[in-house]
Order: sequence, then structure tokens, then C-alpha cells
Amino acid sequence: MKLTFIGTGYVGLVSGVCFSEIGNDVTCLDKDLGKIERLNRGEVPIYEPGLQELIAKNRELGRLRFSGELTPAVERAEAIFLCVGTPPLPNGEANLAFIEQAAQEIALAMNGYKIIATKSTVPVGTNDRIRDIVSKLTPHPFDVVSIPEFLREGSAIADTLHPDRIIIGTDSPEAAEKIAELHRPLTDRIMVTDVRSAEMIKYASNAFLATKISFINEIANICEKVGADVTDVAKGMGHDRRIGPSFLQAGIGYGGSCFPKDTNALIQIAGNVDYEFKLLKSVVEVNQGQRFNVMTKLRHSLGELGGKRIGVWGLAFKPDTDDVRESPALDIIGALLAEGAEVQAYDPVATANFKAIFDQADEVEWRDDPIEAARDCDALCLLTDWAEFKSLSLTEVQAAMRQNILIDGRNVYTSEQVDEADLRYYSVGRPHVG
Ligand code: UGA
Repeated sequence: MKLTFIGTGYVGLVSGVCFSEIGNDVTCLDKDLGKIERLNRGEVPIYEPGLQELIAKNRELGRLRFSGELTPAVERAEAIFLCVGTPPLPNGEANLAFIEQAAQEIALAMNGYKIIATKSTVPVGTNDRIRDIVSKLTPHPFDVVSIPEFLREGSAIADTLHPDRIIIGTDSPEAAEKIAELHRPLTDRIMVTDVRSAEMIKYASNAFLATKISFINEIANICEKVGADVTDVAKGMGHDRRIGPSFLQAGIGYGGSCFPKDTNALIQIAGNVDYEFKLLKSVVEVNQGQRFNVMTKLRHSLGELGGKRIGVWGLAFKPDTDDVRESPALDIIGALLAEGAEVQAYDPVATANFKAIFDQADEVEWRDDPIEAARDCDALCLLTDWAEFKSLSLTEVQAAMRQNILIDGRNVYTSEQVDEADLRYYSVGRPHVG
């Protein structure tokens, strides 16, 4: 199929590349011409394992191109996928300005029947609005499809090529069949529903996963007080197929560009129809508090933090990505500096992005190596569970430090690893480890 993806952020770029990989003819569009130029030079603007290689391969095969010119890209496409950003407004609502503008531009460029499919996460009712905008501006026929995206950063290619399910929301059986056909090489778990239900499935899924995380984090906090081990508790719960083992990893809470934005947006969507989503409000509150448990543990072990040297391992919101949006590290390093601590930090790939958005970047000492980030520290805080940290010798780490406090915000280390070194070790919900 001839496809155009509007927006070369995570969703648009990865989806476009993966659909070219399975043999479609794909154009990825972006208004940021600098980004298009870089992509055309073979530079990939995001860190996503395997993406660069797939881009090179499919460009060479002539099935993938990057462009800033909307009209020809719309004209040649049978289906156009909206993958532009929906960043949060100050009140938590999704900003739909980019979506609406793209819809207008598509309408004005149309030269015949098109499927307009929305992959961006948009509030319930947005695709109906897109239909209104487009129908006012073009005489050509078209169908609107909501096709929410469920890929995770860091495993985006595998998630796209091997999805758990594909949700197609539309009132057009013909458009549903065409989009189903496009996805059949990836999975046969394809569900067709109406547009509004598809839009809701995306928010409900992310809100549920966020709820699982806040739930296990609260269980972890209780485990610390009653002497139970949250990793065993989660494992034991996960054996129940109705619960499942995933997204029950306790830590310092979720971050990223999706869960924080989508949970707040769903609270807002409910509020707009006079429904208070009490459960989800608590999920958000618990998540915000969870990151500051690192500070509580530091104060408990070190006393006053003023003048203390604290090492930070991990700035990305999770491993295998350079994304630092809503990363717990932003709040934690901010709080450390506010209490007068000296901070030295290391991340394998996300330091440049972190420096770009963190107001107090000048006050942090940036390190290129994990041992250097631990050197002469009174305490070390592990905030992102990069594989690199798991394999380090804690004896070597401890030898570099001034005092021996390790706060493991992601429960990375086993008791054996901890016992080998002489550390005062604090993890999340595992009072017996260390
Ligand atoms: C999330 C969803 O998992 C995707 O299905 C969805 O498509 C995407 O949002 C989106 O809406 O675009 P992502 O934000 O890339 O994907 O990352 P996740 O792997 O879901 O992790 C989110 C956060 O939760 C991370 O900060 C991670 O450290 C944290 N987390 C995850 C936990 O604290 N515990 C867990 O057990 C799992």
C-alpha cells in the first residue's frame, strides 16, 4: 500500500519505517525541514535500538523516503497516518493544535479518496472533529480511522512488528478492511470497533498500566514496613493469570512522554463530562510521591543533605532510550540541589537531552563513566535500570565512594551482589536485601 505518515516523532518514524520493512511504499513527512535533512543524510533523531539499520535498508530499497512537502505525499498516498504530537496543555488536556492543522492541510491537498488514520493519542471525539474539519475543506470522499499506537520506547520496533493487538476504530467497513489488510502480516489479533471506543481503548490501557505500577509501588512501601519482599509478592501475584506478571516492577514510579500525559488527560476527559476519576487521580498522586522516597531514604541514611556529594546513575525515564521527558531524575536531582547537595550524574545516552531541558544543568557535574559518577560520593542513587549498571561489580563501585550508601530506585541488584560489597543498601520494598 502507498502510505504517508505525518510527523516523524517516535510513533510516526517507527511506524513508517516498520511498514516499509513489510513491503509498503512509505513517505514520512515533517514540517521540521532540518529533521528531514538529517534523516535524508542517514542521521536518526532518536535513540531506538535497530532503527538506524532499518531506515538505511528500506531507503536503499526505495520503499522509504523523508520529505517536507505535504501535497505530493498526500496525493500519492492511499492512507495517511496522523502521528503528530499532542503535548499536554497546562490544565492536563491534550493540545490538539497540531492534529487540527494537519487535518486541514490534508484536506486541502487531497486529490481523491483517502483513508485518514489517527495514530496520535487523542481525546475521545477528536476523530469526529477531524472528520468535520476535512469534510468542510474538500469535495473528495474519505474515511476516518482511529488506530491507537501501543509501542514502547526502547522496544518500539519489536512492538510494532509483533503487536499484541491492533485496534481499528471506524464506521466504514471498507476502510476497516483495508487497514486490517495492511496489518495482517503483523498479527491476526485485529479488533474493529467504533471510533470513540478505539480512542478510549488507548487511554484506558495506559491508565490501567499506570495503575498497576502505582499499585505495586504502594505495596512496596507497605512491604518495607512489614518486612515482606515486593519482588516475591509481585511474582506470586503474577502467577495468577487474571493479574499477570508484567508492569508490577516496583521502583521510583513511571515517567516518559505517555503515562504522565495520558493519565492527566483522561482525568480531564472524565472531568469534562462531570465525572471525577478518583482512582486515577490517586494513581498520579502516588506516582509523584514515589520518586521522593529516594530523598527520604537519603535523609534517613545521611541526615542533612547540604554539602553531601550524591552520585546519580540514570537520567532517562527508563533504559534503552535517550528520552528524559517526565523522568523521575528531573525531580530528584532538582530536590537534591534544593537541599544543597553536590550532584554528579551519569547516563549512557540521555545526558545531552537532560541538560537541554533541566534548568539547573550548570549546577550538576556530568560524568562520562559510572565509576566516575560514584567517585568520592557520600551516597549513590540508581534511578534508571540500564543493563550496564546491573553488571558492575559493587565492590569496585564502593571502593570509589567516600561513604557506602547505595539507593537502588529500581531494585536492580540481587542480595548476592549486595552481600559481596560492604554497602548500606536501600532498594524499594525489599527490606531484607542488603
Ligand atoms: C507506554 C506504554 O507501555 C505503551 O504501550 C504505549 O504505546 C506508550 O506508553 C504510549 O502511549 O505511547 P513507554 O512510555 O514507552 O510506553 O514506556 P513503558 O515501558 O510502558 O514504561 C513507562 C514507565 O513506567 C517507565 O518510567 C518505567 O520505568 C515505568 N515502569 C514500567 C515501572 O516503574 N514499573 C513497571 O513494572 C513497568
